[in-house]
Amino acid sequence: MKNPDAKVEVIVGAQWGDEGKGKFTDLLAERADAVFKANGGRNAGHTVENPLGEFALHLVPAGIFYPHTDNIIGPGVALSLRYGIKEILELKSKGVSTERLYISPKAHLVLDFHEFEDSLFESYKGEGKVGTTGTGNGPLYTDKVSRVGLRAELLKHPNKLMDKLAALLAIKRNNHGAISLPKEFAPEYYEDLIRTAAEVMGPKVCDTDQLTQSHLSRGSRLLIEGSHGSLLDIDNGTYPFVTSTSCTVNGLLMGAGLPRVNIHRAYGVFKAYQTRVGGGPMPSELNGQLEDWLRENGREYGTTTGRPRRVGYFDGVAARYSQMKNGYTDVVLTKLDTLTNIAALKVATAYRMDGEEIADFPTDSDMLAACQPVYKEFKSWQGDITKITSFDDLPKEAQHYIKMGIMRHIPNANLAYIGTGPGRNQGIQLVNLN
Ligand code: IMP
Repeated sequence: MKNPDAKVEVIVGAQWGDEGKGKFTDLLAERADAVFKANGGRNAGHTVENPLGEFALHLVPAGIFYPHTDNIIGPGVALSLRYGIKEILELKSKGVSTERLYISPKAHLVLDFHEFEDSLFESYKGEGKVGTTGTGNGPLYTDKVSRVGLRAELLKHPNKLMDKLAALLAIKRNNHGAISLPKEFAPEYYEDLIRTAAEVMGPKVCDTDQLTQSHLSRGSRLLIEGSHGSLLDIDNGTYPFVTSTSCTVNGLLMGAGLPRVNIHRAYGVFKAYQTRVGGGPMPSELNGQLEDWLRENGREYGTTTGRPRRVGYFDGVAARYSQMKNGYTDVVLTKLDTLTNIAALKVATAYRMDGEEIADFPTDSDMLAACQPVYKEFKSWQGDITKITSFDDLPKEAQHYIKMGIMRHIPNANLAYIGTGPGRNQGIQLVNLN
């Protein structure tokens, strides 16, 4: 029985990832009854600072710091054994209880050989390499869809896991043929790791479908924290320069193991400008002095890899496409303060391709690479905005930029929140988030 009071909220990266979803996720996680991680794995993550210390969360959902919240690693997650153990033990060592962490038996296990294969496949691609995070995600999901993957349910039966692993590695050694393979392709290499994983993670594997169902029937508030960004979605993103999972609202519901019921809000998190890590086209990318200024000012370096992010002007064409694919009800705008004092401020409102102006986002990467942005200029603003808590107190130029530069490209969505600084309290809340 579904309870009409149940509320499901989804937080989605609306660009190419790294939109600063973490802060808003923490904000909503505090009042959630259950928080789900639905997609990706160690390739995504965010840093949380609280009185207990600083934590880099990649696999464990953001509700872990709140004693009343269930935290569910959903079936769509790529669960690294090595890093899952590390994250759980680190949380425990800093005094955070992991009692309410639950792992779907359907999540797939990432092992060290996946990371080796990730680098290997990238090296085969040469110029066309994706620029992955090297965390094994592509090969993991390849195993999953090839139906040879190892699922978390096996953590309850370590001997069976060892047997299945040995069979999988035999297939791998066969497939890799003539190349010489490292120790990560021998089953014995994993004996200790699997024993520890069975001890640390095994007890957390349970029937998360029933747990989810009981939350829905009790009228709970459920939150899905999306990883990556919609433009990196395997089906809807800028293929092949994408990640290996679905990062849009529908895919996140599936990855969390949730039915499409009681959807209360879908938040699209947009950064006030654009960033991208790895390869692939990015029409509004900046070069030169302004690029360096924006990167340094916005501290645009990868959380997982430390790589410098590519930076650019807000892309309205991409934003319209992202809204078309997700149907956000609400927008969370992050890092507006980074643009304070910028030397020149623009938004891409259309593209020019082969001399013609186009309004729609091309899904073919080669076509997108051939697009030049058509810009609309905006006046920038000066002065510290990091302590402002109401929209009307923002400089007029910033208000105009938000309304005409950003929100006009995201139709049918409310502006819910504007981030004006890294701190938890540095933001403007525009709607009642209940
Ligand atoms: P993979 O997910 O490691 O396979 O990487 C595929 C592409 O997605 C690369 O361009 C990565 O840089 C990018 N990517 C993956 N995860 C994230 C993320 O969380 N933020 C930004 N880019 C990401």
